[in-house]
Amino acid sequence: MDRWHQEVAEIRRDHPVLLVQDEEFGPFWALTRHEDIFAVSRDSAHWKNTTLSVLASDFESREMVATPFAPRSLVQLDGHEHTAHRRVTNDWFKPAAVGARQDRIDEIADLFIARMRELDGECDFAVDIAQPYTLRVIMDIYGIPESDEPLMLELTQGIFGANDPEFMGADSDPLIRAGRALMTFVQYFNEITTDRRACPADDLATVIANGQVDGCPIGDAERLWYFILVATAGHDTTSFALSGGLQVFLDHPEQWASLRGADDTAIARAADEIVRWTTPVRHFMRFATEPTSIRGVEIPEGGRVLLSYPSANRDEAVFADPMRFDVNRPDIDRLLSFGVGAHFCLGSQFARRELRTFLKRLLNEVDTIEAAGDPAWSESHFVSGVKHLPIRYSFR
Ligand code: HEM
Repeated sequence: MDRWHQEVAEIRRDHPVLLVQDEEFGPFWALTRHEDIFAVSRDSAHWKNTTLSVLASDFESREMVATPFAPRSLVQLDGHEHTAHRRVTNDWFKPAAVGARQDRIDEIADLFIARMRELDGECDFAVDIAQPYTLRVIMDIYGIPESDEPLMLELTQGIFGANDPEFMGADSDPLIRAGRALMTFVQYFNEITTDRRACPADDLATVIANGQVDGCPIGDAERLWYFILVATAGHDTTSFALSGGLQVFLDHPEQWASLRGADDTAIARAADEIVRWTTPVRHFMRFATEPTSIRGVEIPEGGRVLLSYPSANRDEAVFADPMRFDVNRPDIDRLLSFGVGAHFCLGSQFARRELRTFLKRLLNEVDTIEAAGDPAWSESHFVSGVKHLPIRYSFR
């Protein structure tokens, strides 16, 4: 990523609205400046999301649109349809509702600190701790039993990490891998729907299964995609932030030391700096609803722009010394990792609380911590980050 950031800094300076012409992926414009990504994200009258919100090859895009099961999650919806569907779960993600779950997040964090103790001084922090911890928090809200968590993880990796050979399983093709994961999700969430309609519980699955949109039951495709979106977006993202955050602290022990004994405000700022530094969601696409121009570059109706969040988060016009990891960054409130506008990340409150909660425990309870091998990054241009982080540590 360091090399990527160096190269993208040049693109951001010289070609902020870069036409990318690629045989496999077709033409699109890459937006790399914070100001442009911010403006396009907030202008949903002129920029739509549509089915193809994530960059895919022309072949994959055709398949995705043609399938009777084309994506219909919040991410793909626009306008009133989007607002009405978002309202179904919105109350669960408001600051007060998420705050009310702090005790439970604490309990889950304690569990994984205990697991670190059991692992006796060495672990793969990404696989052993960050993944299962963030997964548990979201599945707990969902009401999905612990015994199904490995399945949820495998299916999420099948979709987000389909291009990574490590997550390919027995499949030879990422599209087949993702399609298979999708079908298993559908079957799983159809069963959950039947169950929660018959026996409602106090969980998010019940809310989605029984959701009403404009006075009618939520559509089948929208319901299933809602389930899939929350099940996937809810943990891999936060997990990559946590593992990537610890990885950057290992490279900057002075920043780690400066946080020892820090108050909640300082920890919150540090957690946000981690989210800026790691930017686990690498992009989303937007489509022009009419001919337009950005910085003098003409974009026709239907033209696609790629919003590069990692680039926006290193934009020197917004962040002082952006290539420096700085837990005391005064400009951190400009971070764009969660997007902005109508589609602003629904789960940002959860993500932030999960990160702060775990960071605080690590700072208070761990004495020494160091790398025990090379970290590895996942191979994906959508949701990506540190997938292996071997560490050696001791407790106080
Ligand atoms: C560090 C962790 C996370 C990052 C970096 C992240 C990032 C993002 C981004 C960039 C978007 C699109 C914003 C836009 O288009 O303007 C998004 C949307 C979304 N995120 Fe997150 N996310 C994270 C954690 C979570 C969690 C924990 C959940 C929990 C369920 C979640 C659920 C969603 C949903 C449902 C949407 C779609 C919102 C919509 O289209 O209206 N995310 N997220």
